[in-house]
Amino acid sequence: MFPDRVLSGMRPTGRLHLGHYHGALKNWIKLQHEHPCYFFVADWHALTSHYQTPEVIEEYTFDTVIDWIGAGIDPAQATLFVQSRVPQHAELTLLMSFFTPLSWLERVPTYKDQVEKHAQFGRDLTTYGFLGYPLMQAADILIYRANRVPVGEDQVAHIELTRELARRFNHLFGREKGFEDKAEAAIKKLGSKKAKLYNQLRTRFQQEGDEAALETARELLADVQNLSMGDRERLFGYLEGGGKVILPEPQSLLTVTPRLVGTDGGKMSKSLDNTIDLRDTPDAISNKVKKMPTDPARIRRTDPGDPEKCPVWTLHQVYSDEARRQWVVEGCKSAGIGCLECKQPVIDAIVHELAPMRERAAPFEDDPTLVKNILADGCEKARDTAEETMRDVRDAMGLAFS
Ligand code: TRP
Ligand code: SF4
Repeated sequence: MFPDRVLSGMRPTGRLHLGHYHGALKNWIKLQHEHPCYFFVADWHALTSHYQTPEVIEEYTFDTVIDWIGAGIDPAQATLFVQSRVPQHAELTLLMSFFTPLSWLERVPTYKDQVEKHAQFGRDLTTYGFLGYPLMQAADILIYRANRVPVGEDQVAHIELTRELARRFNHLFGREKGFEDKAEAAIKKLGSKKAKLYNQLRTRFQQEGDEAALETARELLADVQNLSMGDRERLFGYLEGGGKVILPEPQSLLTVTPRLVGTDGGKMSKSLDNTIDLRDTPDAISNKVKKMPTDPARIRRTDPGDPEKCPVWTLHQVYSDEARRQWVVEGCKSAGIGCLECKQPVIDAIVHELAPMRERAAPFEDDPTLVKNILADGCEKARDTAEETMRDVRDAMGLAFS
């Protein structure tokens, strides 16, 4: 009914690191060849938590885009933009705030954790804006009518909220005057055979909750040639009992990734200062890995160790093939290899992985206008798409007095 579209965003809160690459960017790079993709820098989201340090937001917005391009996001394939340059995000957030129950936001599972976590760094997040940030995220997605949203596990609850808000929106505002009559008239236009099938499938879904019938009916509508856009949307909406689908529900594309450890053995995270950044030099990479802790039982070179107790081993699981991993396990348990020896192939693999990224990023680091031009194009395209949705939203909400 609406075009296929992928959307995802990232907060500009620092240089991107291996965790971002394996946890998100690798997937984005694959998706950009398979679907139309919109990727944006979520600068307003960053301000919900970093409003006390706005000076870093602008710098990191550029850095984030340079890191994306370095990693292999191709601005000729994907639309790259900055949230705050598409003010329609704010308008939709506001309009949706009128019907978003407070309790839906308060029960977002990460809310209280995040407030506590940021308090440790002196950031007071007991604000209106921070409570509303999952609503803003829903608006980010719905305004592009994106059907696929690649996210990590921590964001799945936000996508679920987005789906609920879309449903609520369509329920409240998708009922134009005379909707049922118009839908019934549209059914007649299908021709008697298809009309009968549509009615049967609709009944099976509404009375028995038969999801397969819903799917079949959607396929039927997708194939029909002689319907206007409006009638098609009505019939999609009528299937589920509601009105027109103005904002379609997105699916999350869960990115399953190996959990990358940081250089201190904990989760790789900027706030823990244990990251290997995508634009680190080979020397920096080497130094960071060499300093990584290993199995604490290996005090001397001659002490045997256990890879399961060693953070370096988790890097071998990402970067080494079967033969190399066997070399590690045997060498570690028999004290046949030393830890520095064991780390070297990991260093080499990371250096090898990141070298082309630094190379691709270099011209953009040297000339910020290259980045500005890419973003100017992307923001314009994003604004056009967002404005299209907003016209329908304003219409449905009684704001189309022109
Ligand atoms: N909240 C996301 C994060 O912290 C970033 C984000 C903002 C996002 N808006 C989005 C991700 C829309 C996907 C879709 O990582
Ligand atoms: Fe870790 Fe390798 Fe040292 Fe074993 S040999 S403790 S796996 S670094």
